[in-house]
Amino acid sequence: MLMERLPRLRTELKLDAVIANGENAAAGAGINGGIVKGLLQSGVDAITLGDHVWDQRGWESEIDDFPKVCRPANLPGACPGADHVIVNVKGFRLAVFTVLGRTFMGMKAECPFIGADQMLRKLAGEADGFLVEAHMEATSEKIALGWHLDGRAVAVLGTHTHVPTADACVLPGGTGFMCDVGMTGPYASVLGREVKPVVEKFLDGMPRKFEVAEGDVRISGAIVEYDETQKRALKVELLHMKRGR
Ligand SMILES: [Fe+2]
Repeated sequence: MLMERLPRLRTELKLDAVIANGENAAAGAGINGGIVKGLLQSGVDAITLGDHVWDQRGWESEIDDFPKVCRPANLPGACPGADHVIVNVKGFRLAVFTVLGRTFMGMKAECPFIGADQMLRKLAGEADGFLVEAHMEATSEKIALGWHLDGRAVAVLGTHTHVPTADACVLPGGTGFMCDVGMTGPYASVLGREVKPVVEKFLDGMPRKFEVAEGDVRISGAIVEYDETQKRALKVELLHMKRGR
């Protein structure tokens, strides 16, 4: 749906840059080169990933072929893939990177707060602004990171929990914030998976295959308006579209 609709959306909404988290773009788990190419062709400028970064076999040897894709910045340094992407937005160099949370998440990752500070320091001379993706389970961790980076990032936007939140705002220091921008995918589902096996697993605890659902596909995201002169976000808004709109 994103590939189909994005070319028109870019014009209609006057979007200067589009960032997509693609960690579940390959049938619900990970990503591959073909999908990356499709997303970039449809008008995505940079693709971030999350805890499902390595779910597709072989992607670890392919990721370095795609300079517009970055894996989470606070993974161990030996991991393949770039830790950020710089998007040139009409001359404004927007550095994009993701940090993984450590609360209720299994993946081996360094502290996201210290990790984000290190990225800001490392990229200070190369970037005019930072879009930080908080790929985290706990809303408290996302909100704390937003405040931690307030005044130092264009926006801190949450992903991973799939459900768009109603807290889009600009923090006092000028950083745009939203706990979760929501899932682009099927909403007649449990976080994108078919309802029945998930409900059954909650009932009896037995393992089951969770297929990707198909009903009620929507695009969800956040639109950030940023003023380069004032160096602050002016507005953050939820973008949430059903098919047929
Ligand atoms: Fe995730």
